[in-house]
Amino acid sequence: MNKLICGDNLEELKKIEKESVDLIYIDPPFFSNKQYEVVWRDEAEIRSFEDRWEGGIEHYIGWMKPRVEAMYEVLKPTGSFYLHCNWYANAHLRIMLDEIFGESNFQNEIIWDYGARATVRKSGFPRKHDTILFYAKSKNYTFNLLYKPYKDPLMERYNKIDSKGKRYALIKRKRTDGTIYYGKCYPKEGAPETDVWNISLMASTSRERLGYPTQKPEALLEKIIKASSNRNDTVLDAFCGCGTALAAAQKLGRQWIGIDISPTAIKLIERRLNQLGTKKDTDYIVAGTPTTVKDLLKLKPFEFQNWVIDALGAKHSRKKIGDMGLDGHFDKDIFHKDAGIQVKQSEDIGRNVIDNFKSALERAKYKEGIVVAFSFGKGACEEVARLKNSGEIDIKLITVEDLLHKKVKL
Ligand SMILES: C[S@@+](CC[C@H](N)C(=O)[O-])C[C@H]1O[C@@H](n2cnc3c(N)ncnc32)[C@H](O)[C@@H]1O
Repeated sequence: MNKLICGDNLEELKKIEKESVDLIYIDPPFFSNKQYEVVWRDEAEIRSFEDRWEGGIEHYIGWMKPRVEAMYEVLKPTGSFYLHCNWYANAHLRIMLDEIFGESNFQNEIIWDYGARATVRKSGFPRKHDTILFYAKSKNYTFNLLYKPYKDPLMERYNKIDSKGKRYALIKRKRTDGTIYYGKCYPKEGAPETDVWNISLMASTSRERLGYPTQKPEALLEKIIKASSNRNDTVLDAFCGCGTALAAAQKLGRQWIGIDISPTAIKLIERRLNQLGTKKDTDYIVAGTPTTVKDLLKLKPFEFQNWVIDALGAKHSRKKIGDMGLDGHFDKDIFHKDAGIQVKQSEDIGRNVIDNFKSALERAKYKEGIVVAFSFGKGACEEVARLKNSGEIDIKLITVEDLLHKKVKL
């Protein structure tokens, strides 16, 4: 069964059967020392991951190495491994991979020219490619030669399809005795694919874009999966982001396992797979997403906020004018009235939170509001009751526990 796992891959990889995976692709943080964050269009949800390393390159490689070693363990002897990186750390990663896989199992340094318009750099040439390091686990590994599409000006004459799905033409031929027959004629393959790949990044308006930071094009993953796996083989992406490798594997008839530490990324993948007609619990299982109050307390603030807004079925508020100080809102179409939402990842919420929230609601002209937190103090409860009785404003207090167990009636 295909698996979508939310968690730290170091822990999750230990739970996967040894030597059970045919192909691993990873696109980990690159050692860019940036925090990647996208606030996506009207949904206004934050999608983010951290790529900052206080201890420098040694710290980064020290973090990567045990993870890649765990991946090596789950890879079959016939398997292949692709690591996506760029100039920030590729030299260090290559040495690390030589140690894990053995220098002689290095296959290619693939240059992915992403075709973006070069930005001028005064200090050097503009940067225009990523690097993908390709290793095999042994000499006996799966590899399918790929060819560039053959540009035959008469391609339309190959208008028949054989049992393997290949195009051919029926051509009239003469036997030596003069009789006529029709023989199959296949177009010549294009030139073999090299280690330099020109695949454009998705345009900002492309439907493929899901608003996940550093999302890769499916065409790139399709190439890797076609070259290094066969139908029904298992593909693993242990830093799967919004699930590009999983979507490509699904479309190409491979089994897959995806791991990501971000619950927001996992939700996005579920939606992506759903659009492909791939259904949770029937076609794949999800593990590791937060299911207890303790899990929710540990989430990063943006992840917690995404979880609450999603559980309420509400909208994020960052983009709405006047919503400053509010985290989310309901519109009349989903709730009976417009209402503002405040999310607090803390316990024993005090009266001051209600006072500030009341001002924020008034600024945004909401007559109702909802505060979600782990627990509420006496002062907060009393003030909410007073505001309601005096007819000033209607604020509901919702605990995370009730939201988690779907006990909330709005
Ligand atoms: C560069 S992004 C991957 C993008 C992906 N290739 C795509 O096309 O969407 C890196 C991902 O690694 C995840 N990540 C970072 N540390 C992780 C860890 N320890 N375990 C699992 N995932 C992790 C981040 O949440 C982020 O989604």
